[in-house]
Amino acid sequence: MRQTERLAADAAGLAEAAALLRRGGLVAFPTETVYGLGADATDAEAVAGIYAAKERPSFNPLISHLDSFDSARRQGVFDGTATRLAEAFWPGPLTLVVPVAPTCTVSDLARAGLDSVGLRVPAHPLAHALLERTGRPVAAPSANRSGRVSPTDADHVLGDLDGRIDAVLDGGAARVGVESTIVSCLGGAARLLRPGGIPREAIEDLIGRPLEGGPEAGSSPLAPGMLASHYAPRAQVRLNAASFLPGEAALLFGPGTPHGVEAAHAALNLSENGDLVEAAAHLFSYLRRLDASGAATIAVSPVPDAGLGEAINDRLRRAAADR
Ligand code: TXA
Ligand code: MG
Repeated sequence: MRQTERLAADAAGLAEAAALLRRGGLVAFPTETVYGLGADATDAEAVAGIYAAKERPSFNPLISHLDSFDSARRQGVFDGTATRLAEAFWPGPLTLVVPVAPTCTVSDLARAGLDSVGLRVPAHPLAHALLERTGRPVAAPSANRSGRVSPTDADHVLGDLDGRIDAVLDGGAARVGVESTIVSCLGGAARLLRPGGIPREAIEDLIGRPLEGGPEAGSSPLAPGMLASHYAPRAQVRLNAASFLPGEAALLFGPGTPHGVEAAHAALNLSENGDLVEAAAHLFSYLRRLDASGAATIAVSPVPDAGLGEAINDRLRRAAADR
């Protein structure tokens, strides 16, 4: 249980909110769409805290919020279409999914292991002021518990998350009330991933061609290789490994040295003391490192299904099933 502060929309409140974020805290803040539950996007443990507070049973890629297009360019690669969209609709209720830039600092967990990143420059003056003072990308899904409606004022946020987050910056009612429109600009295509605050027509008028993907594009199958909906390792994944075979890569959890670890091709421990928040923070980067080690199989120790373990196990099961 944390003490959740309600911070006023003034200089002191903003300074405190930014300081909390820079220390790895969880701070809800208003955007013009809905209130977001923010954490330093570059700090995987802080990002893991978002999932714990929301009790989200799976890891989605999160939107990273920035104070300007210039800041966004350090995180993602903007092709011609993405540049035109950013210049026309930022700041505002538009999220662009673009390839990660070599200078990207958004954590693997916030990107759910993908090579793309979701970026948004919100227009709400408080959000802008907070992002400027924080000086880092801030990952933020809507500030509600999983399965509940998105919050449009600070009371909604506290109703769901009081005692689970460090603070809410109280900026009154959100204006748009629906989430941002999400457009992916990957491999030359522009695709509507989620309808939202900016109408499809406004985007199509600007780019001079129809967006790919219908209104329910988020759930329709996507062309292979165009947009992976989640990161899948190349190696086979073997779950609930009590011991390890020679040549396997070992993804460990908890204390102790299971049989066969010494002969493993590579081994990494998600959390030696069995901390699920730490394990979530390491999950995607360790999967990638073990995959890159060249082992044909990544064998994974059992992870308890409690708390963040549910989301970790969901991701591991999908990694084991994807072939
Ligand atoms: O208005 C909004 O967009 C609010 C405010 C707080 O900004 N945020 C929000 O976040 O609705 P969330 O987590 O509920 O939605 C994020 C969605 C994910 O479900 C995912 O579909 C998409 O953004 N997304 C983010 N990064 C992505 C990526 N790299 N690839 C594909 N989809 C991505
Ligand atoms: Mg949401």
